[in-house]
Amino acid sequence: MREDTIMVIGAGQMGSGIAQVCAQSGYNVYMYDVSDDQIQKGMKRISGQLVKQAEKGRMPHQDVKRIYQRLSPSASLEDAGGAFLIIEAAIENMDVKKDIFKRLDEQTEEGAILASNTSSLSITELASVTKKPQNVIGMHFMNPVPVMQLVEVIRGLETSDQTYDAVVTVAERLDKVPIEVHDFPGFISNRILMPMINEAVFALYEGVAEKESIDGIMKLGMNHPMGPLALADLIGLDTCLYIMETLHRGFGDDKYRPCPLLRQYVSAGRLGKKTGKGFYTYGGN
Ligand SMILES: NC(=O)c1ccc[n+]([C@@H]2O[C@H](COP(=O)([O-])OP(=O)(O)OC[C@H]3O[C@@H](n4cnc5c(N)ncnc54)[C@H](O)[C@@H]3O)[C@@H](O)[C@H]2O)c1
Repeated sequence: MREDTIMVIGAGQMGSGIAQVCAQSGYNVYMYDVSDDQIQKGMKRISGQLVKQAEKGRMPHQDVKRIYQRLSPSASLEDAGGAFLIIEAAIENMDVKKDIFKRLDEQTEEGAILASNTSSLSITELASVTKKPQNVIGMHFMNPVPVMQLVEVIRGLETSDQTYDAVVTVAERLDKVPIEVHDFPGFISNRILMPMINEAVFALYEGVAEKESIDGIMKLGMNHPMGPLALADLIGLDTCLYIMETLHRGFGDDKYRPCPLLRQYVSAGRLGKKTGKGFYTYGGN
């Protein structure tokens, strides 16, 4: 196990962003995904981002190659054995994440930290499938990872202070601001954000206003940098639906009922920016 090596599980928009900031901060990074295509796309996304930053004068051009070389695509969870920290950023599904955590538990050394970038799922439940629940923690990055400052750090029931302190140190080295919360559905960020997005989808569904008007009102009237429907497209409508389902199930309160329109879009494969179509249509994706 090496103190300079992190493994990221999932090479989607969040996993590739997390891998990028880790490599930029000097860590060696394995990036794993079940889909080889996603790994290739993730590596391409990272190199594009690094080049863009160099072109904007935010880093010297010679750093691009140096940072990129710290990244290793991985096709095997066995690589986790070489990492002191594993950050899981696979799809927002408890069964998928539990399976990953169970396998990571077998592949990693005693002191390795198993973190999840889950947006809403119970860290305590994820930890329960491992033999080291004291080493399991939530490390919730925001999208887009290279831009957003916050890392919401979620303590599970058994998370040790040592694990918490280690993760805070890593987050600070990544130039992020860690803020601690306890393990409740949606934590703080998505307990507050996602019902607002869901309400915006209900307003569209009920014909209260056009999508551009809903987003325009929230941007101009509330000073939000982007409207809730555009933000839902950025997050991914599948992820939004999973989070609402977790809130609905977790609190048993119908105020968290996912809007049927959100469900319909997800069923149709309209997942937002990542598939080229959600509430809006995106080119070149
Ligand atoms: N999208 C956001 O704005 C956002 C923000 C914070 C946290 N998150 C969380 O980050 C996680 C990933 O979200 P995303 O937006 O990157 O989704 P995404 O759809 O872009 O990527 C998910 C990736 O997980 C991979 N995957 C599926 N099953 C896997 C498995 N068994 N092992 C390894 N990889 C697997 C998929 O191939 C895909 O590449 C989710 O838990 C999500 O809730 C998302």
